[in-house]
Amino acid sequence: MTANDERDINGLKAAGRVCAQAMKLMMDNAKPGMTTLELDQIGEDFLKKEGAASAPRAMYNFPGGTCISISPVIAHGIPGDHVLQDGELINIDVSAELGGYYGDTGASMVVGKSNPEYDQLLTTAKATLDKVLTVVRAGKPLNLIGKTVQEEAAKHGYNPIFDLTGHGIGRQLHEKPASIYNFHKPDDRRIMDNGLVLAIEPFLTTGRGHVVEKPDGWSLKTVDNTIAVQFEHTVIVTKGEPIILTLP
Ligand code: CO
Ligand code: CO
Repeated sequence: MTANDERDINGLKAAGRVCAQAMKLMMDNAKPGMTTLELDQIGEDFLKKEGAASAPRAMYNFPGGTCISISPVIAHGIPGDHVLQDGELINIDVSAELGGYYGDTGASMVVGKSNPEYDQLLTTAKATLDKVLTVVRAGKPLNLIGKTVQEEAAKHGYNPIFDLTGHGIGRQLHEKPASIYNFHKPDDRRIMDNGLVLAIEPFLTTGRGHVVEKPDGWSLKTVDNTIAVQFEHTVIVTKGEPIILTLP
């Protein structure tokens, strides 16, 4: 959607904030020994308490309130009886509807003690999202996002995940523009309009940058079983710095 007035902007901010707060709560509580279902329930209970509804559950009948992916799964991991292990690289993605507006945010982290390999990938991916936010401007090409992600990844010897994209958002979880690529695509001539609401989500991996669906019909894992991470914010495009909606 394009957010033009105060009513839309405030509604989007409220939806984004509740997603960010749920995700922060889950990240703070993710400890070795707990199951991903327990972690999911912390997030979904918070959403419900705030009057928000899990978007994947409501819209796609996803079997969870949030997505919790254990590397090499990087998206749409189903919460369940998996017991979190010390040193495990995980991704948490929270999207929800509040008052008719949608927010979507995600982050990767290590449960318990990390290691330099994971830390470097996490640091690079986080910095990549920050860098992307500096190029998001009304009137600029949408693919500046993908070009920036791919350049930042390459500087550190990583690849973006070519199959996974950001998306428009607002009145639905997934809206136009669909497929906000995480790589440079010169024939993508779309422009970022003022007020456009986007979920921007760079995925970085040490591998070739492709994913396959697991037999559960949801989980997406890297084809080469390499580690991967994602960071995601929902933002409103403006003539200046974008408004970041998914802040706790
Ligand atoms: Co997401
Ligand atoms: Co998203």
